[in-house]
Amino acid sequence: MLSIYSYHFLLILSTVSYRSVGATDCPASSLLLATPTVPLSILYPAPSQGYGWKKDGGADDGDVRVSNHCDYPVYMWSVGARQLGGPRLNNTCDAYMTEDDRVMITVEAGMQYSEPFRTTCPKMNDTHEYCPDEDKVASQAVSLKVSKTKDLVNITQFEYAYIPDHVDPSKRLSYDISLIDCHRVVGIKDADATDEQHNGKLDCPGYKGGIGVAFNMDTFNTNCPPVYCDGVHKCPSIYTWEWTQRNDASLSCKDKYLGSMELVLCASGNPQMEE
Ligand SMILES: *[C@@H]1O[C@H](CO)[C@@H](O)[C@H](O)[C@H]1NC(C)=O
Ligand SMILES: *[C@@H]1O[C@H](CO)[C@@H](O)[C@H](O)[C@H]1NC(C)=O
Ligand SMILES: *[C@@H]1O[C@H](CO)[C@@H](O)[C@H](O)[C@H]1NC(C)=O
Repeated sequence: MLSIYSYHFLLILSTVSYRSVGATDCPASSLLLATPTVPLSILYPAPSQGYGWKKDGGADDGDVRVSNHCDYPVYMWSVGARQLGGPRLNNTCDAYMTEDDRVMITVEAGMQYSEPFRTTCPKMNDTHEYCPDEDKVASQAVSLKVSKTKDLVNITQFEYAYIPDHVDPSKRLSYDISLIDCHRVVGIKDADATDEQHNGKLDCPGYKGGIGVAFNMDTFNTNCPPVYCDGVHKCPSIYTWEWTQRNDASLSCKDKYLGSMELVLCASGNPQMEE
C-alpha cells in the first residue's frame, strides 16, 4: 500500500516486461513491434556530448548486496538499467538486453556479493522509450535474478528502481522480491494457493528458512521499510503467485537513502535477521 505514485507502478511494470531477458521464454521469432515510421536518430538525436554522456551516479550513493546464507551456491544475473550504446529498436523480446546482462555471477554459500546502484531514467510520457543523455531505456528498473542452477529458470527476483533525487525529489528507491517466475502453477491466485502449493515455492532460491531486504544505514527502519518472510508461512510482503497485489509488495524509501540495500537469502542462517 506504500506505493502511492502511479509513476512507480510504471517502473515496476517495465521490470516485468523485461523479465524474459536471456531466458528460455524469449523465442527469437517473437517480434513485438513494427518498425517505427520515424528513424531512431531523429526520434532520439545524439546529444552534443554523445549518447550516455551523463554518468550513472548510483555508485556514489550506495550498493546492492546479496548475502547468501544458504548451504548451496546461487547463480545470478543483474539485468536492466544499463547503457545501451545508442537508441535501439524494440523489435524483439530481448532487444534491450546488453552483454553485461548476460554475465552469470556465482555467489557461493556463506558469501556476499555487491554491486553499485544503477539509476533508472524516468519515463516522461507514453511514447518516451529511451533517454539519450543516460543512454538507457526509459523507466527500466534493475532485476537481480537468482537461480539454483546455471540456467535462468525457477528464479527468485530482487527488483529495484533508483531515481536520484536531483532527477525527481519524490521518486527514489523502490524495491520488491518476486517468486512469480519460480515454480509457477498456471491460474493460481494468492488467495487460492494451498499450503501444498506454497510448499512448492519453498524450493525457490533463498526462500526456505527466510528471505528479506535490509538497509544498513536505516537502523530504526524509519525510512525504508524492510522486508522479511520466515520462509515457512505464506508471506504478503513479497510477490508469490500474482502481480495483482503489486502495491502491497512494492515498497519505497520515504526519503533519500544513501547506503547498502541487502537481499538476505536463507535468512535463518543469519542470526541478525529476525522478524
Ligand atoms: C517494447 O515493446 C513492447 C511491445 O510493443 C512494449 O510493450 C514495451 O513497453 C516496449 N518498451 C519496453 C521498454 O519494453
Ligand atoms: C515525451 O517525452 C520526451 C522526453 O522528455 C520528449 O522528448 C517528447 O517530446 C515527449 N513526447 C510527447 C508526445 O510529449
Ligand atoms: C521449474 O519448476 C517446476 C516445478 O514447479 C519444474 O516442473 C520444472 O522442471 C523446473 N524447471 C527447471 C528447468 O528446473
